Amino acid sequence: MLRGKRVLLIISGGIAAYKSLDLIRRLRERGADVRAVLTRAGEQFVTPLSVSALTEDKVYTDLFSLTDEAEMGHIQLSRNADVLVVAPASADILARMAAGMANDLATTVLLATDKPVLAAPAMNVRMWQHPATQSNLEVLRDRGVMIVGPNEGDMACGEYGPGRMAEPLEIVAEVSNFFQTASGPLAGRRALVTSGPTHEPIDPVRYIANRSSGRQGHAIAIALAEAGAEVTLVTGPVDLPEPPGLTTVPVETAREMLAACQSALPADIAVCAAAVADWHVADAANQKLKKADGQATPTLALSENPDILATLSKSGPERPAVVIGFAAETEDVVAHAQAKLARKGCDWILANDVSPAVGTFGGDRNTIHLVTPDGVEDWPTLSKRDVGRRLVQTIIERGPFAE
Ligand SMILES: Cc1cc2nc3c(=O)[nH]c(=O)nc-3n(C[C@H](O)[C@H](O)[C@H](O)COP(=O)(O)O)c2cc1C
Repeated sequence: MLRGKRVLLIISGGIAAYKSLDLIRRLRERGADVRAVLTRAGEQFVTPLSVSALTEDKVYTDLFSLTDEAEMGHIQLSRNADVLVVAPASADILARMAAGMANDLATTVLLATDKPVLAAPAMNVRMWQHPATQSNLEVLRDRGVMIVGPNEGDMACGEYGPGRMAEPLEIVAEVSNFFQTASGPLAGRRALVTSGPTHEPIDPVRYIANRSSGRQGHAIAIALAEAGAEVTLVTGPVDLPEPPGLTTVPVETAREMLAACQSALPADIAVCAAAVADWHVADAANQKLKKADGQATPTLALSENPDILATLSKSGPERPAVVIGFAAETEDVVAHAQAKLARKGCDWILANDVSPAVGTFGGDRNTIHLVTPDGVEDWPTLSKRDVGRRLVQTIIERGPFAE
């Protein structure tokens, strides 16, 4: 995955710098060429000799080195890389990056680069939580700097919390993911995927839900990201890990899901795989409903939820170029899906049988009928992961972006 990729690793001054030695090994094992820049503070934590031995290259430390400047030059150093990785990224270097400073070799290279930058912050938990650090992070994120970690755990300073540098393999995964995404067939496209059930509160402790596990929606989001799309996954409550490499927005109710979808627009592709409740409880109680002797059993009055698929399918400047819905049916699967396609105004429907006997909800496999205005295509029973991949392949080959 990283064969031939040129990584410029900037090691700043933090305890976690020792992990960057392992990071060099992991990147090189995967075929990357690693060149390193050490800040002055970084040199206090790892020696240029160790870094040089592991990169099998010169280590760059000094902005005003006559020989380095003659041989390579700081601008070349930043341009002769495919990606810049700052690991560990100290609070100090993040602040200097956010401020656009260029007062040493590392920050000059970071300011002069035209390449993507990934930073792995590592610092004491209070330094991490300080509003100054958080606002620097926000500035950097807005500018497109990718951030990995930090993780939560025991810190070298004896405290506990977020601030530990992401593990070398997590950083490698992020770098690999970046290269995969940058070259995939959907690179540059934005995708919105909804997944999971919604929970509609009855009172603060009870809710109406359904049996959707989110596995199919999550698998589609992962497949889109693997093909290079920039994915926002809006998910109801599920028992699944947040997939790496995409933006996950957790929501509870259908109304929250619609709002999150609208905030994620514009998008080129929308896949509505969530099992959105059709109704919510009209007047959800603010306090837990109590059972009392002699009192009548409460009756729940329901109100209709917004129709997310129909809303996203409405024509207008923000309508995604392709809108795909799901029809979860327990009878007349294809006929219902064809009616739904016409009613909602979406482009394609993936129809599936969710009868308990079939085991689609919560299971690993799915049998899909792809319903389009041109007809119906019956897919074989596939793993949900493969359904995701096949759908993405269909979007690539037959969707609006096909040549
Ligand atoms: C023992 C020790 C450990 C440190 N660990 C960290 C750290 O983990 N993260 C951090 O942001 N700063 C840490 N610092 C402070 C930085 O080294 C200091 O802010 C330095 O100016 C960073 O410079 P640089 O960003 O140019 O590398 C530490 C300082 C000392 C003395």
